[in-house]
Amino acid sequence: MFSRQLLRASLAPMARKSFAPSFTAGSRFFSFTAENQPRIRIGSVAPNFVAETTQGKIDFHEYIGDNWIVLFSHPADFTPVCTTELGAFAKLEPEFTKRGVKLIGLSTEGVESHNSWIKDIEDVATGGKPFGYPIIADANKEVAFKYDMLTEEDFKNINSGLVATVRSVFIIDPSKKVRLIMTYPASTGRNSAEVLRVIDGLQLSDAKGIATPIDWSVGQDVIIPPSVSDEDAKAKFGEFQTLKSYLRTTKSPL
Ligand code: BEZ
Repeated sequence: MFSRQLLRASLAPMARKSFAPSFTAGSRFFSFTAENQPRIRIGSVAPNFVAETTQGKIDFHEYIGDNWIVLFSHPADFTPVCTTELGAFAKLEPEFTKRGVKLIGLSTEGVESHNSWIKDIEDVATGGKPFGYPIIADANKEVAFKYDMLTEEDFKNINSGLVATVRSVFIIDPSKKVRLIMTYPASTGRNSAEVLRVIDGLQLSDAKGIATPIDWSVGQDVIIPPSVSDEDAKAKFGEFQTLKSYLRTTKSPL
């Protein structure tokens, strides 16, 4: 089992950095208290922030532009599981781009650290591909706080120093709404193919008004939502199967 001590040891260099309980981000005064923390739900507007990244300073809402976004955090630079994850997302980046999706990673370390780590990721985990997407240098922990990318324990300790982010994934659409949230602990690497799969499901659902069943993947039958009458379903999808009055399936419309 993953040991908390291991995590603390791996993050010891971060613990030595100075930490203030509150800070000024741009012109805004920011305080790490539960009352100040946005409550992000599916459908919430993704909180905006300005941050340094490995590809320069960004205003997050400007960065979103007309794209879909996968914003994902990892506990710390130069850690093994994170190295495999960031490499896997770099390999899959062309698939995300095809779907109009921009990737952006995050950890609570600085740009210099991220840039040296990217060299390692390219050495061992991108299959020879250059690492193409930015990583947010969230050294002041503003984004980690706003998006609640923290364990219970780290949230309690946020004002006293060491804060590693968990493995959060936020999928955000071009209207800047949060569409899907996944949260994994530090010990468990994510599944990059699953992130791509749920984007396919979300985009198909938006385009065609369908829902996707358990373990669905592109090309498989989809579900006609109960809100659509049989008559409208026939007009919209043609043939469909009725397993129960509330469970109707049809061929994937794409
Ligand atoms: C990792 O392998 O990504 C990892 C290991 C220990 C602590 C945090 C992250």
